[in-house]
Amino acid sequence: MNKNNQEHQAILIKEVLETLNPQKDAYYIDATFGRGGHSREILKKGAKVIAFDFDQQSIENAKKLFSKEIDSKQLILIRENFSKMDASISNLKKSLNLEISGILFDFGTSTDQLMSKDRGFSFEAREEILDMRMDDRLGVKACDLLKLIDEKQLANMIFEYGGETDARAIAKKIVAVRRRDPNSLDKVGTLVDIIDSVKGFRAKGKINVATKTFQALRIIVNDELSNIEEVLPKALKILQESKAIDKRLVCIAFHEGEDRLVKTFFKKIEAENIGKLINKKALQASEEELKINPRSRSAKLRALAL
Ligand SMILES: C[S@@+](CC[C@H](N)C(=O)[O-])C[C@H]1O[C@@H](n2cnc3c(N)ncnc32)[C@H](O)[C@@H]1O
Repeated sequence: MNKNNQEHQAILIKEVLETLNPQKDAYYIDATFGRGGHSREILKKGAKVIAFDFDQQSIENAKKLFSKEIDSKQLILIRENFSKMDASISNLKKSLNLEISGILFDFGTSTDQLMSKDRGFSFEAREEILDMRMDDRLGVKACDLLKLIDEKQLANMIFEYGGETDARAIAKKIVAVRRRDPNSLDKVGTLVDIIDSVKGFRAKGKINVATKTFQALRIIVNDELSNIEEVLPKALKILQESKAIDKRLVCIAFHEGEDRLVKTFFKKIEAENIGKLINKKALQASEEELKINPRSRSAKLRALAL
């Protein structure tokens, strides 16, 4: 557990198990392994898991926490962007007789990533580099974006992906700072001060004024929405090609942008009679879960049966 007692807690576990319905010895893909909270529950049902995560730290943690399951081949770990899962799965099929019974996505970042002090996700770590890459093989950090993108694009991006209504004023200030001292934008603290100077006096509530801008940058740096758009048809194809019976595709989204992609895709699949929505409305955290894990408030789970 980290110092702030804020280790990632898997969300909607009961709902994931009900909709994914893991069966003994069947194979499931956990496309967003994180701390492995969902994988652990799937493994407990006697199922096998092929897990993806593009963050090396998640993979290192997994090797320590799941060594038994890895040794027994109940868990196969792959450090890869889930948008390339089709290639990884067809590679695995060369050596393993596998039929995939279900695929789970729990999009976005883990609490571990958000709270880590040295990766630029946290606005509290003022002296750190404004990095925000979940996959450190990616070329562009958040601070590079702030130095490269023109003011209008910056404003649009902060508004569209963060829902920040002061996006224009924030973008204007970023560009002003960039003209004076571009390298100062390398630090988390500079962006926090910029946002504070625009919004600070209007700040209310418990949510930090930097939250929306930080979310927007994180989504862009990690190409989060394009990855989802790319992977959903691939995940469907993997399930369609599998000989398993009663196959499931389960997605948990945390913000409107992610959920819209899932909702639209699932509706299209249902309209084409390829799959059926398990629940008409998205499932959300129970009052009980909200008390234990307030972060689950914005999570929406949608599931499809094939
Ligand atoms: C919300 S966390 C998942 C938490 C996990 N379900 C658990 O119970 O611990 C999302 C994880 O997915 C990973 N991730 C996000 N986008 C990814 C992508 N395109 N490819 C691979 N991994 C990704 C992140 O690095 C992060 O570890």
